[in-house]
Amino acid sequence: MSRTVLVTGGTRGIGREICAYMKAKGYQVAANYGGNDAAAALCEQETGVKCYKFDVSDFDAVGAGLSQIEADLGPVEVLINNAGITWDAPFHKMSKEQWDKVVSVDLTSAFNLTRQVWEGMRERGFGRVINISSINGQKGQFGQVNYSAAKAGLIGFSKALAQEGARKGITVNTVCPGYIDTEMVRAVPEKVLDSIIATIPVGRLGKAEEIASMCAYLASDEAAFITGATMTVNGAQYIAG
Ligand code: CAA
Repeated sequence: MSRTVLVTGGTRGIGREICAYMKAKGYQVAANYGGNDAAAALCEQETGVKCYKFDVSDFDAVGAGLSQIEADLGPVEVLINNAGITWDAPFHKMSKEQWDKVVSVDLTSAFNLTRQVWEGMRERGFGRVINISSINGQKGQFGQVNYSAAKAGLIGFSKALAQEGARKGITVNTVCPGYIDTEMVRAVPEKVLDSIIATIPVGRLGKAEEIASMCAYLASDEAAFITGATMTVNGAQYIAG
């Protein structure tokens, strides 16, 4: 029986590509989404991946969503914490709401999801947790104190939890995409985005598929010895030590 994967924020952008890629590899895939029903319907229609609507920043809503997914597809063996939002502003203009919203959707969500599949993974002696961080969690980004803090938080989360999962066959890793050609990146003002692309040595935005293939590798049996790692996929825009 093929393994079950849950991708949060799985109906658009990088998440949607991960869903399609994992499905093509033979996994049973569930995509979570937060609010865009039209995008979810299109995703279901085009990829055949079943979509589940719940708020990843709400612990109880996550519990209910996971129960539904597990009733339909069986226990989640591969969890990809991909859901994330931006709400950019220079710090002197950033509101408490901007901080709270981004930290709860981008970081607290990883606790909410992982905590509720963790005991099952421990009991079964197998699990893969892949946290989608960002280049901006590694290097920081002007206008993204909230997002950079949350994405950096995911790196620490993975490093700590990897040590706890290691003896139970569970790996926990972080993937740090650079600027990938998605709706989120295309929403950056054009002039700003052009100046960012100019700093990418490979000379282009990344493709969502280039993140999906990294996730598929980390989810595989071959990647059993890779845990607590931070995988950088950014066209050499930022080379972390
Ligand atoms: N470095 C230094 N100074 C900068 C700067 C930068 N990167 N960006 C802007 N500034 C300066 C401006 O030159 C301006 O200076 P002056 O007042 O002296 O003219 C000042 O900051 C204010 O700039 P704006 O008028 O642009 O301010 P704003 O409030 O309208 O917008 C902003 C600021 C929202 C941060 C805007 O610059 C922006 O959207 N930046 C892009 C942020 C970004 O990269 N987001 C990534 C989104 S994609 C993503 O996050 C995915 C991923 O993981 C990679």
